[in-house]
Amino acid sequence: MIRVRIPATTANLGPGFDCMGLALDLWNTFELHLDTQVGISVESHGEGAEKLPTDQSNLTVSVMLAELQRENIEAPSNFRIITHNTIPCASGLGSSSTATLAGVIFAQAVNLDKEGRDPSDIDRAVVLERSVAIEGHGDNVAPALLGGFVIVVPDDSGVLTQRIPHLPMKTVVCVPEYNYLTSQARAALPSTYSKSDAIFNIGRAMLVAEALRVGDDHLLARAMNDRIHEPYRLPSIPGASAAITAANEAGAICVSLSGAGPGIIAFARQDFDRIGRSMKQAFHDAGLTSRYWVLDATDQGAHIGRLPV
Ligand code: HSE
Repeated sequence: MIRVRIPATTANLGPGFDCMGLALDLWNTFELHLDTQVGISVESHGEGAEKLPTDQSNLTVSVMLAELQRENIEAPSNFRIITHNTIPCASGLGSSSTATLAGVIFAQAVNLDKEGRDPSDIDRAVVLERSVAIEGHGDNVAPALLGGFVIVVPDDSGVLTQRIPHLPMKTVVCVPEYNYLTSQARAALPSTYSKSDAIFNIGRAMLVAEALRVGDDHLLARAMNDRIHEPYRLPSIPGASAAITAANEAGAICVSLSGAGPGIIAFARQDFDRIGRSMKQAFHDAGLTSRYWVLDATDQGAHIGRLPV
């Protein structure tokens, strides 16, 4: 019925914990096919295909069914979801956020179809609000849906987002093979912070946004520092601190944890492979294998289109 193509995202961008994210040019694709007469099934290709559930426990399916139930809409009894993934799973690149978004979008598509309307005529504001509610923070789903560099905060009427224009930016993301769940990474954080740490981060988050907006690499390098999450997470990921040091030494503008990790993201204008190899070496020295990607930021958000019948 419909196909959605959703980009990877890097959340936090150093000091912008839970409220800043950037879409990256690496994509997962999800197709929803109705009336397949096979019950509910999921066929995954690419990254993580061998590990992703093929039944109702699949994240996209469970989100879709929960959203339909929430709206008291009868779920179709036969459908097939086909995914093509290029975003590594559990990496800090927002792969599970693409699955959540797809589930919310599919639920809305089913409803539109039942009403005899175009199933791709999705209300993106509703998708954003529901996806943020499901994830508990919007710094992956907002840039994945809208594209570009996005600031997103909860507010009384739902979600407040602002896309900030930014100059072209390349990143090198190195992802170790290490099981570090977002839930574990969030549990590692303290429940309160000192006033000085709050001030440290608020100021730097604003400076990172301004640095990306005007393309000021020197400012970005000085501002990309965090006291809210990285100090509590980096020690749990073998080689992560060494990878940050190595990437900086190899010529990165600045380096931080990508989202909740375990991936490390370096912002750079040159020496991309040198930076990638340096991070791989640091993880290798800590006993972990890793892969790296050189990725452009993208201003394209989720693309939603009808499949031919
Ligand atoms: N802001 C979230 C966190 C991103 O750091 O926990 C998770 O992808």
